Amino acid sequence: MSRPARRLRLAPSLLSADFGALGEAVSAAEAAGADAFHLDVMDGHFVPNISFGPGLVAAVRARTRLPLDVHLMIEDPLRYVEAFQRAGGDTLVFHVEAKSPPEAVVREVHRLGAQVGIALRPDTPFGAVEPYLGVVDQVMVMGVHPGFSGQRFLPHVLPKLTEARERLDALGRDADVSIDGGVTVENAVDTAAHGATFFVCGNSVFGGGPIAENLRRLRASVEEGARRGVR
Ligand code: DX5
Ligand code: ZN
Repeated sequence: MSRPARRLRLAPSLLSADFGALGEAVSAAEAAGADAFHLDVMDGHFVPNISFGPGLVAAVRARTRLPLDVHLMIEDPLRYVEAFQRAGGDTLVFHVEAKSPPEAVVREVHRLGAQVGIALRPDTPFGAVEPYLGVVDQVMVMGVHPGFSGQRFLPHVLPKLTEARERLDALGRDADVSIDGGVTVENAVDTAAHGATFFVCGNSVFGGGPIAENLRRLRASVEEGARRGVR
């Protein structure tokens, strides 16, 4: 199945960067051709880990002009979307499994003038996000159980990428389908072939080796996947 050409974007996930040299990591990835940055916000409730809040998002905002994709792994996104939009988030991604009513989060993020994404955990069926496909700007399929970077990709999520792309296309929506968690040079090709257009890459960008070379190899992989489609 071949797909129409669509812009493929790589978003390095700063959770995998050296927090002691975060500014340098941001500048290096931007200079190496990153398309956006992904920032993982964790509250210790929705996921077991705690990461950072709006202050760090604002610090990254001051360092780059690239879009910031803020992934809210928090129980009550409705309460915090304004703080993260003010901090400089361009897209605010919340989980369908969180406590806030999804319709209210979507409405509030759009009222704030930001883009909104809806994420689903690896074991959440695609049907959970289906009611929101007409209004969200991004559907984020998780390739790992949220909470930590550097985990192994769960291939059973791949069909959800295709489902998301096909349902969005059927609705005439140009929203991004993103994949987050466990993306490597080896499997990025499959995620693109299945319909992902926005690729969150933590360890595969910051986990070792030159950032520019890592991004170059990831880009070649997703471009190959998008050309190939699902066979
Ligand atoms: C996981 C986070 C991911 C993570 C990605 O909870 O949402 O964004 O930082 O890191 P890698 O690519 O190393 O799995
Ligand atoms: Zn994330």
